[in-house]
Amino acid sequence: MEVLAEESNKEKEQSEKETTEALMDEKRIYRPLPEMVVNANIDPNDYENAVKKGKTDLEGFWEEAAMELDWFRKWDKVLDRSEAPFFKWFVNAKTNIAYNALDRHVKTHRKNKVALIFESEGGQRSRMTYYDLYRASNMVANALTSLGITKGDRVSIYLPNIPHIAIAMLACAKVGAIHSVVYAGFSAIALRDRVNDAEAKVIITADGFNRNGKVVKLKEVVDDAMLDCPSVETVVVVKWADIPVDMSDGRYVWYEDLMEGVSKEFKTVEMDANDPLFILYTSGTTGKPKGVVHSHGGYMVGVNRSLKWVFDIKETDIFWCAADPGWITGHSYIVYAPLVLGTTTVMYEGHPLFPGPDRMWQIIEKYGVNILYTAPTTIRMLMRFGSQRLKKHNLSTLRLLGTVGEPINPEAWVWYYKNVGNQNCPVMDTWWQTETGMFMVAPTPCNVLKPGSAFKPFPGVHVDVVDAHGEPVEPGKGGHVIVKEPWPAMLTTLYKDPEKYKDVYWSKIPGVYLAGDIATKDKDGYFWFQGRSDDVLKIAGHRIGTAEVESALVSHKHVAEAACIGVPDKVRGEVAQLFVILKEGVEEDEDALVNELKAHVRKMLGPIVVIKGIDFKDKLPKTRSGKIMRRVLKAQELGLKEGDLSTLED
Ligand code: PRX
Repeated sequence: MEVLAEESNKEKEQSEKETTEALMDEKRIYRPLPEMVVNANIDPNDYENAVKKGKTDLEGFWEEAAMELDWFRKWDKVLDRSEAPFFKWFVNAKTNIAYNALDRHVKTHRKNKVALIFESEGGQRSRMTYYDLYRASNMVANALTSLGITKGDRVSIYLPNIPHIAIAMLACAKVGAIHSVVYAGFSAIALRDRVNDAEAKVIITADGFNRNGKVVKLKEVVDDAMLDCPSVETVVVVKWADIPVDMSDGRYVWYEDLMEGVSKEFKTVEMDANDPLFILYTSGTTGKPKGVVHSHGGYMVGVNRSLKWVFDIKETDIFWCAADPGWITGHSYIVYAPLVLGTTTVMYEGHPLFPGPDRMWQIIEKYGVNILYTAPTTIRMLMRFGSQRLKKHNLSTLRLLGTVGEPINPEAWVWYYKNVGNQNCPVMDTWWQTETGMFMVAPTPCNVLKPGSAFKPFPGVHVDVVDAHGEPVEPGKGGHVIVKEPWPAMLTTLYKDPEKYKDVYWSKIPGVYLAGDIATKDKDGYFWFQGRSDDVLKIAGHRIGTAEVESALVSHKHVAEAACIGVPDKVRGEVAQLFVILKEGVEEDEDALVNELKAHVRKMLGPIVVIKGIDFKDKLPKTRSGKIMRRVLKAQELGLKEGDLSTLED
């Protein structure tokens, strides 16, 4: 990101024009390409029927989707609502998502098909067939078993975007252990908190990895975290960057040593459809991340069907989801859904601009990628280098494009469509969340698209936009995004906190799932997502709670109080602006202190928190009950109207 070119004045003007109203005024429409419709997994007719069935026979719709998968025992009931909002999908069914992702394929023609194409930042490639991946994850499953891991135990995975991360996830699933992947960009403190909350027995990590031409010393971060991780019995270390690491602690063991002589066969454990598959921590409105829990059965059905239809997956496709398995996008659409579908998934270790802005185009050309799924921030970053360099690459294998993670501005959408897709590849803008597990509002290639809109709810998913009382809003009016009916890949609870699960998602507007987003629907029913309604930021698509940043700041010895708001950023969508009241008597150079506080936040939370600036204040706007009014700070910062100030203390 450091290499970004200066923004031109023209771009600035463009960005200012792109307010919400400009978005809603978007008149361009893109009709489906005839050849795509002819060959689509579901054509416009099927699509209409699916929408109808999803409305009139929700359970029948998802039952049909479940029939495409392998179950050790079928369900007694598709959906049990008796303990809502703790819905149970595929009651009493037995399965294992890893069985569906690997074991079943090795009994078919897919045994020797390439499951995973990996490219390191240094440009080395490797390929694993389904049989390779099956045996590698069997070995890790055996190794985990030898470390005492059994069904229900938690394993933290702190690995970069390398094949081992997929293998580790699948191995946990095979054993019935619950994996908790922690993004490799997170700090030691963030890792420690997640490991301790999950009470993980094992951490799987690496010595280091390559990012933007540098080696990130991952193991050193683990060493720091391990000073206070009492539940951890073993840390398994993959030798990847080949750098010296300290293995003196008796709990550390090399991955390679652990695999020595381990059997390549493992009997995948039968799981109840509602048994947890993973915990993934995500930011909310409190200082502490929430452990979102997903299950084997429903999750598998949801991700499988959504990928198959939205990205129209074909047997020969090479699918590249350019995300990281540290986030939900990577869980669902780098690892689980592509493998369950038996497709070929691409994984790239490094930075999208390393060693130069052609890297993504080179990868597409090198492997003949058919479908590219990435984030608006990446598209905007690449847009700045112009379209000329794209012309040097043969991207003709591409047939579909996708985006996720944050709203995409129409200009970026159209640039992506024209220059990356050469006007031949519809752009699937997919709206969903860590909690939803699967695409919720997304088109298929046979729908008419409007740049900047994520189209309409996926068949069998009931998303709507309502006011604070749960009443539908008129077309063009903003409101809260809700989901009115359960969906199979939904989170099953928050780890160790079912009350919070009920409270955060199901109680503010009773009886429906509250997403925490603001959107409008236009007169054609198209959704236009506008961002979060709660105190959660989206920096380059990464979710960061303002409260998390504030609590990181106040843990610094000089900080008395702090507030964090999001402000718009041309490339990253949003960045953090911080306000700090210093403790009395602090007399330090302001610039030095700004740098120190930035470094402190980075140390506490990791580099994903991009800080625009830090302002020192004597006072912060607060309600009479002492709550910081971030809204007022934001209005002041952006020069907007401050709105209702009646609750302001001073
Ligand atoms: O605000 C929405 C935004 O990302 C949030 C979910 O973040 P996370 O759980 O990290 O998952 C991101 C990847 C699925 C949502 O509440 N978001 C996600 N996709 C879109 C989006 N905003 C607009 N358009 C999207 N396509």
